[in-house]
Amino acid sequence: MRKVFLLITVSLLTLSGCRHTSGFAKLDEWTNTWKTNQQTYFGYPANQQSALKDFYEWYVSTGMDRVNLNNAGDPMTDKPWNMSSCAFEREVIEFFTPLYGFDPSDVWGIVTHSGTDGNNHGIYFGANDLYNRTGQRPVVYVSDEAHYSNMRLCDLQHLEVKLIKSDAMGRMIPDSLEAALDITRPALMVYAMGSTFKGAIDDMEALNAVLAKHPELPGVYRHVDAALFGGYLPFTRYQKMVSSKDMHFESIAISGHKFFGIDSPSGLFLCTRRVYDNQQNFNVTYLNGNMRMINCSRDAVQPLKFWWLIQKIGYDQWAQQANQMMECTEYLQQQLEKIGWPCWRNEYSNTVFFKRPSPEICSKYNLALGFDAFFGGELAHVVVMQHVTKDKIDTFIHNLK
Ligand SMILES: Cc1ncc(COP(=O)(O)O)c(C=O)c1O
Repeated sequence: MRKVFLLITVSLLTLSGCRHTSGFAKLDEWTNTWKTNQQTYFGYPANQQSALKDFYEWYVSTGMDRVNLNNAGDPMTDKPWNMSSCAFEREVIEFFTPLYGFDPSDVWGIVTHSGTDGNNHGIYFGANDLYNRTGQRPVVYVSDEAHYSNMRLCDLQHLEVKLIKSDAMGRMIPDSLEAALDITRPALMVYAMGSTFKGAIDDMEALNAVLAKHPELPGVYRHVDAALFGGYLPFTRYQKMVSSKDMHFESIAISGHKFFGIDSPSGLFLCTRRVYDNQQNFNVTYLNGNMRMINCSRDAVQPLKFWWLIQKIGYDQWAQQANQMMECTEYLQQQLEKIGWPCWRNEYSNTVFFKRPSPEICSKYNLALGFDAFFGGELAHVVVMQHVTKDKIDTFIHNLK
């Protein structure tokens, strides 16, 4: 009887277009908690203003929810089957190609499963490219402030890693790179574009200059881990920092669920066509021969979401969001300074780190925690995403006071 009642209620709400319950008490209770938590989600880089409502309406109303698509294989070449969204994935890569300073005639890319998946491709492609060019496995150089996924992935790929010291603000120190450089082996550089806690970008021009001083290096490959910053920087005055043409990197990884607001993990990976062409060609006839990327099955829905957001939000609105984030970051820092709360940030960064507040505030605002003796010990940070607006910052400051 209860089940019938629930079913009727759910059906009526669905028909009236305002379905608010699932019919499962546990699920409904959980739904209410995230609605509250979302308002004070300050510590992690997720855009909490996902704009995919229309997408889901289209998806269900057209029956796409009953279609099993798969983007296995190279999206840049045609498939022997047509149950994929690769045509849209290609357009996503085309949209982002100039934003990351790649030449449209010399680029390859995919929509990935996450920033980590993109880093995996960058490190794997980099190691193969260097090996195929020099006959030697590279040494990986990465800063001690870079995201842990890079170290994990090097471990998985059995690559030798040299962790390079970073300065107080989180940037790899060029002199420390120089001191650590093994000039008898190829160098695989992993540049942090937004170190996880302090939001630092490695100074690629200075680090490239160190590498250029050593023409005897058998080979150099540069991958940029731009999980968060790669989302908003192309739409700001710092665009050059994320440009392959200007910074001379071979590949870049970006997350889709951070700045772009895709509602579940996804990302972008772009590299030069030369790098892609220099990978092992696993010949798989039933997949059209070319399986150079790591995953076989690949998500077909995430490229559709990306494509949808490009049409619905696009360059101008993303630029407006990115600039609002920059403005609110500056505002947060000013307000902290006004109440005498010690705080710091890198110029181009949407991350402000500061003296750690009480455990209650940290928990309420989901603040990410850090520790650095140089800045007085216990720290926390706020990542200013689209939903962290000035009025929410005011309430946060009020709570701090
Ligand atoms: C700098 C950096 N790299 C890599 C990652 C991992 O990205 P994902 O969570 O998309 O796998 C993150 C995530 O926060 C990050 O901040």
